[in-house]
Formats: sequence, C-alpha cells, structure tokens
Amino acid sequence: MRNIVILISGSGSNMAAIVRAAEQGRWAHHLNAQVSAVLSNRAEAQGLAFAHDHGIANQVLDHKAFASREDFDAALMAEIDRHAPALVVLAGFMRILTPGFVAHYAGRLLNVHPSLLPAFPGLNTHQRAIDAGCRFAGATVHQVTAELDYGAILAQAVVPVLAGDTADTLAARVLTQEHIIYPLAVAEFLRGLL
Ligand code: GAR
Repeated sequence: MRNIVILISGSGSNMAAIVRAAEQGRWAHHLNAQVSAVLSNRAEAQGLAFAHDHGIANQVLDHKAFASREDFDAALMAEIDRHAPALVVLAGFMRILTPGFVAHYAGRLLNVHPSLLPAFPGLNTHQRAIDAGCRFAGATVHQVTAELDYGAILAQAVVPVLAGDTADTLAARVLTQEHIIYPLAVAEFLRGLL
C-alpha cells in the first residue's frame, strides 16, 4: 500500500476533501493508496479531530519547540518517514520548508496555493488579487521545489472576482475549488498521469 502523509496547520478542509475522496473513490482498492497520517505544526489545528474521527494517525509537531527551521524540518522528516510515504501533501501547511526537506521529498511533494500561480506567490493572495484589479482568481496544485510557490503546475481552477468581494469572500470561493481540484490532482498523480 502506498502511503500519503498530509501536513496541515489549520482548518484542514483540503485534507478533509482528500480523505473523503480517498474513502469515496476507494483509493485503497483502485490506487493502492491510503492517507496514513495527518501531521500538524499547530496543536489547535481543527483538522486533527477530523483525521482522528476517520481513523487516521495524527500528530502535532510544534515548530516553536525547535531552535531552528532546520531542526524542526529534521524532526518533521523523521516523523513523516515513519510512514514511508509515496506522497507528501501540503494542505494549508503554513511553514516555509528548508531546501533539505524539499530535496528529500523531491518528486513526491505537492502543495495547493490560493492563487493562479505564477501570480501572487506568498501570503495575502486574495487581497493582492483584489488590489491588482484582477477579474479572475483561483487556486493551483503544484509540485514543490526549493523556490516558494513554484514548481510544475498539476491543476488550476479559476473563479471570478466579483464587485464587492473582500479577501474573505474571495478566499471562500477559491477554497470550494481547491476542494475539487486537489483530490483530483492527487488521484491523477497516483495514477501516474501528472
Ligand atoms: C487554503 O486556501 C490553501 O490554499 C492555503 O491555506 C488554506 C488552507 O485551508 N495555503 C496557503 O496559503 C499556502 N501558502 P485548509 O486548512 O482548510 O485546507
């Protein structure tokens, strides 16, 4: 069985969408793959309860308990590698990863970013899209490389920016699309099609 490890920091709604897709699409049967663990760098991440309720191993690794980014990433890698993952999925994991971490999972590390990359890498993507007068915004699933929010694009979804949108209303519209494209992209990736 190919293991998927998902990293979260907050609500974990993308993680939940992937777990539901794995259950409903019977990934264990059809793709020989399962979500084997959910790891969070924040104890208060709401997604941990969802993982627990779905019988998935879950664990908190608080980055504030480590002296350096390198120390945290080394501990995180050790925790992830206990599951010998075929795929590591970043789902709202709000940490910049060290080059060593990214190199270790090269070719099996995916992320979802709430913009139409290469536009708006980094934070505050929705406000920046509104401020720029964009008529469209969206989300991107991509392979992770050492450069922030870069790497081969696997899937994108586009939504309109509507008059009166705030960062919050636009984020909510984009998030509904993330929940569609991320599970699809993970499944296609596992099929070897992406
Ligand atoms: C999502 O919108 C995701 O694209 C974004 O955080 C949100 C997490 O939501 N990720 C980033 O901004 C990464 N830089 P979730 O925890 O409900 O999946």
